[in-house]
Amino acid sequence: MSMSPIPKTAPFAEEEIDLLNRVVGTASPVQRAWLAGFLAGLDASGATLVPHPAAPARPAEPLTIVYASESGNSEKLAGDLAKAARKNGLKPTLIDMADLEMSALTAAKRLVVIAATWGEGDPPARAVRAYNELMGEGAPRLDGIEFGVLALGDTAYAEFCAIGRKIDERLTALGGKRVVDRVDCDLDFTEPAARWIGDAVKVLTPPNAGGRVIEVDFGAKPAASPSTDIFEAEIIEHVDLNSSRSDKETIHLALSFEGGAPAYEPGDSLDLYPENDPGYVDELLKVAGLTGDDKLRAEFIKSRDVTTLSLKTVETYAASTGHQYVKALLAEGQAREWIAGRHLIDLISTFPIALDAEKLRALTRPLAPRAYSIASSRRELGDEAHLLISAVRYESHGRARKGVASNFVAERLKRGGRVRVKLKPNKHFALPASDKDIIMVGPGTGIAPFRAFVQERRAAQATGRSWLFFGDRTFTHDFLYQLDWQEALKDGALTRMDVAFSRDTPEKIYVQHKLWDRRADLIEWLDGGAYFYVCGDAKAMAKDVRTALVRAYADVKALSPEAAEQAVATLEREKRFLQDTY
Ligand SMILES: Cc1cc2nc3c(=O)[nH]c(=O)nc-3n(C[C@H](O)[C@H](O)[C@H](O)COP(=O)(O)OP(=O)(O)OC[C@H]3O[C@@H](n4cnc5c(N)ncnc54)[C@H](O)[C@@H]3O)c2cc1C
Ligand SMILES: Cc1cc2nc3c(=O)[nH]c(=O)nc-3n(C[C@H](O)[C@H](O)[C@H](O)COP(=O)(O)O)c2cc1C
Repeated sequence: MSMSPIPKTAPFAEEEIDLLNRVVGTASPVQRAWLAGFLAGLDASGATLVPHPAAPARPAEPLTIVYASESGNSEKLAGDLAKAARKNGLKPTLIDMADLEMSALTAAKRLVVIAATWGEGDPPARAVRAYNELMGEGAPRLDGIEFGVLALGDTAYAEFCAIGRKIDERLTALGGKRVVDRVDCDLDFTEPAARWIGDAVKVLTPPNAGGRVIEVDFGAKPAASPSTDIFEAEIIEHVDLNSSRSDKETIHLALSFEGGAPAYEPGDSLDLYPENDPGYVDELLKVAGLTGDDKLRAEFIKSRDVTTLSLKTVETYAASTGHQYVKALLAEGQAREWIAGRHLIDLISTFPIALDAEKLRALTRPLAPRAYSIASSRRELGDEAHLLISAVRYESHGRARKGVASNFVAERLKRGGRVRVKLKPNKHFALPASDKDIIMVGPGTGIAPFRAFVQERRAAQATGRSWLFFGDRTFTHDFLYQLDWQEALKDGALTRMDVAFSRDTPEKIYVQHKLWDRRADLIEWLDGGAYFYVCGDAKAMAKDVRTALVRAYADVKALSPEAAEQAVATLEREKRFLQDTY
């Protein structure tokens, strides 16, 4: 019978005592003396024992994480998920949907997709090809693959989280096994996304995963917490770049950062934290019967989204007030149509009912920052950052409307005032090596990042050529940063510029027409390795520009429409066709 020298009372777990007894119990006196001396010596030297795994290491279980992202939120969350998965003994593989091949899906055992929705229910621009393949008839079967989808979106859009929802449905249709229910996140996604990630990692970690399951405390510091800080900047220039006779107002806003600007690169944006129009808030409180509640007024101006009207808002209104007509609007399926072009104030003034502060607050969500492309380079300007902001103003349903952030900037920010911003990096819209040629297409405020590109290339004495396409309404009143471009053409920072002013000629000319006119040179530049950038309006311009490029390939190289489409798709795969559109 073997001896059991380690008593049950020793400060070890029962299995550890058994293990120790198995070694120490059978050891010879010499071996025991050596072990005692060794441990005593270790303690005396202050060295620590290298912990060994309790069981032989197993290969880590794989987890495939795919993200479809445009402005980086889904990408950041995918990174958070990978980190949490790794801690739990899984082996995550992160794939940008831009680079996704269907074979990576069929090879997956467990799959998470984090997908944002853009445009009007569209996939992020970079994800379009793989998304279409997944949705298309040629998509592979994914029988038995365990999956979960996290959807990012904005309830202000009719097609809320449409892409996440469609991917979730598609993976099921292809035979996948949904093991984590989808969550659709609004702009304030930090907490729900962190919770979902925590749950998903738990569910997707098999009991025999290589590592030990670690409870990741997302509550204390959310996984999706911003990695960059909020900076308070001083406004040192506030200039309307349109002439006083223009229909538009586009503000050049120069910000100065005491103690250093955020470490931005050309192509990055700043998230700007706006405040609401006090006049609008007063009107809203009046129709809600809450005039005089100064605390609520201050809170609404500073931190609540008091304009957006979503289906969710209408449902909350119907539930909390019991308003018959609003209930009927929902029951008859007309609410979706009714909210188009309307704001919260329309709901309350059209269907008035007594509201208290709590009920009104429950109809709002936190006020989200707005992104603006940085129009300057730190290499040329040091601790400044410039933004170019077009005031959004229009009329709908008989009411004059003003965009929250752009009018906060245009109407209420002044030189000498202060504003809060946060860096929003975009490594997918960066300059190439300085000897490469670049072609930049940026009508309207889409010109902003290209001012940063040109400044950066001047400061870096880049040898690659730069060609800019700009467009707006009129040459005389809307030529944004005209003097900068003239100077850049003179000093060589800009090689070439083409402009399209849509209201200067009887028939409207846009940047895509200029691309077509210059197609021979354009294709020659691209064949020589040039990078092609598009920034600005996503609704029409970006699509028209891409179509013009496909047609240019077809015409100049005598290609079939399919082969010309392939030529542009190749540019996209090579990351030489880059978009930042909104
Ligand atoms: C990465 C990125 C970079 C950007 N860069 C810039 C930039 O450099 N410069 C710039 O000016 N903007 C830029 N934007 C857009 C900017 O973030 C804001 O969306 C824009 O300024 C409007 O914000 P707002 O708060 O003024 O309007 P909001 O209060 O958010 O209202 C805008 C909403 O009003 C509605 N709307 C607008 N016009 C009409 C109309 N004519 N008819 C009916 N409804 C309408 C739409 O629903 C629209 O979504 C960028 C966006 C992104 C995502
Ligand atoms: C121009 C624009 C269009 C958008 N369209 C939609 C939409 O149709 N549906 C939706 O749910 N969200 C929409 N969104 C919101 C984005 O999905 C949301 O901001 C998301 O967090 C972005 O994630 P990403 O950074 O990973 O791209 C839109 C945002 C912008 C700026």
